[in-house]
Amino acid sequence: MKLLLPALCLCLALATSHAAPMHHEMMADHHHGPPEHEHDGHHEALPDRCDGIEFDAIVPDEKGTTFFFKGDHLWEGFNGPAKLSNGTFKELDEYHHLGHVDAAFRMHHKEKADDHDHIFFFLDDKVFSFYDHKLEKGYPMDIEQKFPGVPGHLDAAVECPNGECSTDSVLFFKGNEVHHYDITTKTVKKRTWSHLPNCTAAFRWLEHYYCFHGHNFTRFHPVTGVVEGSYPKDARNYFMRCPNFGHGAGRRPIRCSEMKIDAITTADDGKKYAFKDKAYMRLDSHRDGKHPFPIARAWKELSDGVDAVFSYDNKMYMIKGDQVYIYKSAAHYVLIEGYPKPLKEELGIEGPVEAAFVCQDHHIVHVIKGPKMYDIDLSATPRTASQGISVPFPHIDAGTCGPDGITVFVGSEFFKYESPKTFSASRIRPQPHKFTPEIFSCEE
Ligand SMILES: *[C@@H]1O[C@H](CO)[C@@H](O)[C@H](O)[C@H]1NC(C)=O
Ligand SMILES: *[C@@H]1O[C@H](CO)[C@@H](O)[C@H](O)[C@H]1NC(C)=O
Ligand SMILES: *[C@@H]1O[C@H](CO)[C@@H](O)[C@H](O)[C@H]1NC(C)=O
Repeated sequence: MKLLLPALCLCLALATSHAAPMHHEMMADHHHGPPEHEHDGHHEALPDRCDGIEFDAIVPDEKGTTFFFKGDHLWEGFNGPAKLSNGTFKELDEYHHLGHVDAAFRMHHKEKADDHDHIFFFLDDKVFSFYDHKLEKGYPMDIEQKFPGVPGHLDAAVECPNGECSTDSVLFFKGNEVHHYDITTKTVKKRTWSHLPNCTAAFRWLEHYYCFHGHNFTRFHPVTGVVEGSYPKDARNYFMRCPNFGHGAGRRPIRCSEMKIDAITTADDGKKYAFKDKAYMRLDSHRDGKHPFPIARAWKELSDGVDAVFSYDNKMYMIKGDQVYIYKSAAHYVLIEGYPKPLKEELGIEGPVEAAFVCQDHHIVHVIKGPKMYDIDLSATPRTASQGISVPFPHIDAGTCGPDGITVFVGSEFFKYESPKTFSASRIRPQPHKFTPEIFSCEE
């Protein structure tokens, strides 16, 4: 069974959506039909995002619910009908002669608690700050006052946290100009990205950056603006559930009972990754949902999957066959020069191996190969593998070590042990744990 990139998209959409009846003609007392949209002449019709909407803004709130804005309507989540924006963001209505928002983003700036996780809306030359769907005191204010140097009448905005941009930043789009705003120094750098379509909305989702234009979207690099891959793509196939759309159509979501992973690790910066076939998934992105992406998107040289991955000394060691690829983790993972190298040369063990993990603050990598575990001291030169000791499984798929001990993955189950020592010495198999939708975004 494959971890289907496309298939999971749909189930993510379902899992994070707010189930609501798909009534297109509800609310009989809704008289001021949106001017840009008419269904068979009925002015009461709500806009339907499956018709192909050019959004004004797309923004997640502090709980991770994504809002799509068009005119005076919004959609909550990836599924469900449009509703009036003023039902959810009431105070926007006091200015509702504007009837729309130009741009919106969710602020990422942990150093400043009274801005962090707030949604900022932009209307003409005003900015509104919302938290918990309530307007903050002192808003609206002039954009120039809050974000000096940023123009009014914006087209789109998106946050870019430190690590993805060089500092906590916001990207403001107007025409084909992008204003990179540094939140701390309040300085703006203007760039022209003429290769990118003019974005009417911009959205950061699971560390990926999307420019929406027409009913399409284009993924771009937040620092360089570079577009890689085949874009534009139709938003209806990815960001909403529409009849006859969706690249998951005809494919079955993965059942948790059939789930299986190849490798798992927690990087030194705390990011948790699982790998399966050619896809990886962040496991710690609870708020914004989970989604598999191609491994090669983050680790360029690994187009063919991995057998085992471990993190050590701010680097990620990725093992495939008899080779090891070592990546430095900066803003992005960069392959260290001279790699890949034979596993035998780097770690003193022959590939292929099934799993590898380092326990916190230790210099030992525990490598599992068949029914045996080998310890390798990473601080020694040259590195050599200890004599193998038996482990209580003929084969494991993946393993990881954390503050609460080690976890080994075998098929669709996983087992927890206090330490590598208790693992190898264990004679009684502990209670198996099962994959759940919460952990792996599979289907029960
Ligand atoms: C929202 O806006 C509509 C149309 O402008 C208006 O009829 C309605 O009373 C408003 N609702 C709220 C909750 O303010
Ligand atoms: C994009 O914006 C620029 C202004 O920055 C404008 O000249 C150009 O016509 C726009 N392109 C499209 C396709 O609308
Ligand atoms: C959307 O993208 C497709 C290619 O995927 C393209 O053919 C189409 O013209 C685009 N439509 C708009 C409105 O940008």
